[in-house]
Amino acid sequence: MATKEQVLQTLKHLQEPSYQIPYVELNLIRDVMVKEQAVSLTVLTSLDDEVDKDALKLVITESLRVLQIEQVHVRIRPLSDFDKQEIAKKMQSQSQTDDGSKTRISNPNPNAVLSPEAGVTFIAVSSGKGGVGKSTVTVNLAVALARLGKKVGIIDADIYGFSVPDMMGIEDRPTVDENNAIRPVEKLGVKVISMGFFVEDNTPVIWRGPMLGKMLRNFFAEVRWGELDYLLLDMPPGTGDIALDVNQMIPQSQYVLVTTPHATASFVAARAGAMALHTKHEIVGVVENMASYECSACGNKDYVFGRGGGAKLAEELHTELLAQIPLGAPDNHVHEADYAPSIYKESTATGQLYNQLAAQMIRKIEERSQ
Ligand SMILES: Nc1ncnc2c1ncn2[C@@H]1O[C@H](COP(=O)(O)OP(=O)(O)OP(=O)(O)O)[C@@H](O)[C@H]1O
Ligand SMILES: [Mg+2]
Repeated sequence: MATKEQVLQTLKHLQEPSYQIPYVELNLIRDVMVKEQAVSLTVLTSLDDEVDKDALKLVITESLRVLQIEQVHVRIRPLSDFDKQEIAKKMQSQSQTDDGSKTRISNPNPNAVLSPEAGVTFIAVSSGKGGVGKSTVTVNLAVALARLGKKVGIIDADIYGFSVPDMMGIEDRPTVDENNAIRPVEKLGVKVISMGFFVEDNTPVIWRGPMLGKMLRNFFAEVRWGELDYLLLDMPPGTGDIALDVNQMIPQSQYVLVTTPHATASFVAARAGAMALHTKHEIVGVVENMASYECSACGNKDYVFGRGGGAKLAEELHTELLAQIPLGAPDNHVHEADYAPSIYKESTATGQLYNQLAAQMIRKIEERSQ
């Protein structure tokens, strides 16, 4: 007859989808009873779709066949708030024993920023394609939100291709407070945390997937964000592993999609939008970047990258086109105070567009939460 230990051992490959950690490791498989060729057990899970729950039952039943178990009774229970707290504690102690990470620092307040009580609105800035201006939109939107009096943070979730510190002209590095929690760097009223702060001399980050997930989790659990209204996530391009990780880690995050006016860019961005919708994330709207070029000599507007991509994407995703940002680099100088190469000053036309975008977003999000 199989033992309880063998049952758990056999099921240890099954991952809890929201946490991306095996059920067994999280102690979410309980009340295992074995009687001859029959097993009954309870699984605690974040799954709420009946089809997914049935699939989980089936996988468990099939997996246990190797132990010659013929009859399996699986009870499925949702995770209670208490269970979630226990998991948060477990995840924190795990990240403390993870010896591959340079930023391994304890925090008495795990995942505080992620808890609903913290009241933080998460905005993931995403696109299907690279180079369309996600990072530019993230940093400018964050600065504009701060100008409007909001408390704002940025997580540079593009772990391989971090660019936020350079774009904002950040030269400081995070410090560690008396409780050994990381304090983000603040610039132009925005708190920033980026992989770039923990990598020496711009060396490439060559990490395996699981390490990256842990790193991101550290950004939430081990950073002392303080009070925040908005936490913007500068996403890596596309719909790859990290994007999915962030998606699962922050089920409450809303999406802003960035596209260029070109039809193919908006077509590809629709995939990122589809991923957000499929995983039940809300989309705040679309930002069309590099929308047009205005000739400084004659004032003529040219649509060098085509037209209509933003509107088309917004229509496809049943959301709205929040802003159209023209081509044109910010005219900033290295020697000025608070130099930030990619930030459009408030006094410029593009700076004003970002202020309008921020105001519109605040309105929309506040309306939704009422
Ligand atoms: N409206 C604009 N006018 C002129 N240049 C722009 C504009 N928006 C972005 N850029 C420039 O285009 C390049 C790509 O922008 P950015 O890095 O923001 O894109 P991204 O989508 O984050 O790219 P990646 O996918 O590599 O993360 C940068 O050099 C940026 O300065
Ligand atoms: Mg980027």
